[in-house]
Amino acid sequence: MNNRINKLQQEILNCKKCGLSRERLNPVIGEGNLNAEIMFIGEAPGANEDKTGKPFCGRSGDILDELLMSSGMNRQDIYIANTVKCRPPKNRNPKEEEIRLCAVFLDLQINLIKPKIICCLGNFSTSYVMKKYNLNDKIQGISNIHGQVFFAESSYGKIKVIPFYHPAVVVYNMNKKKVLEKDFCMLKKYISISGGKKC
Ligand code: URA
Repeated sequence: MNNRINKLQQEILNCKKCGLSRERLNPVIGEGNLNAEIMFIGEAPGANEDKTGKPFCGRSGDILDELLMSSGMNRQDIYIANTVKCRPPKNRNPKEEEIRLCAVFLDLQINLIKPKIICCLGNFSTSYVMKKYNLNDKIQGISNIHGQVFFAESSYGKIKVIPFYHPAVVVYNMNKKKVLEKDFCMLKKYISISGGKKC
């Protein structure tokens, strides 16, 4: 496993498939528990992640940590990756072509970790993951499908795909924190988590 992760890291470090590789300081490969049952997939690195090479280490990361804690988890329980590994300039949305070219890395990460539950943070990862698992006809904007559980068949067995609002929405709209907490709490039903707030 470690060999395959190291090889993937090397490939991402050397990747020049799209223009994002020219502007980024560091690619953000992903990190966490390689045996995690839950994998979170964000959108793309921001300025802090670009500087450090670590996923969700800025304001969105603080919110993600609070949400994990509220549902009795921490970063050691999960694996986190992004749809796109390099920071889009000025935090613009990743382009379709960038997502397509980078997807090979995300697909490899999913196949290495083999999560039972894939939690998609925001519209971009939701749309990519739902298409990957033939859930195209169920795709809607995140405000309509956040917190819903979609059942899919992966190359390694049955999985659940759950879309969430991206934690960054809380920075602009504090009311969304309660919505996110409620959706995160539901994860307790699917894996053995004992701590955290009462749902
Ligand atoms: N937002 C994301 O989607 N990913 C990160 O790693 C940081 C912020």
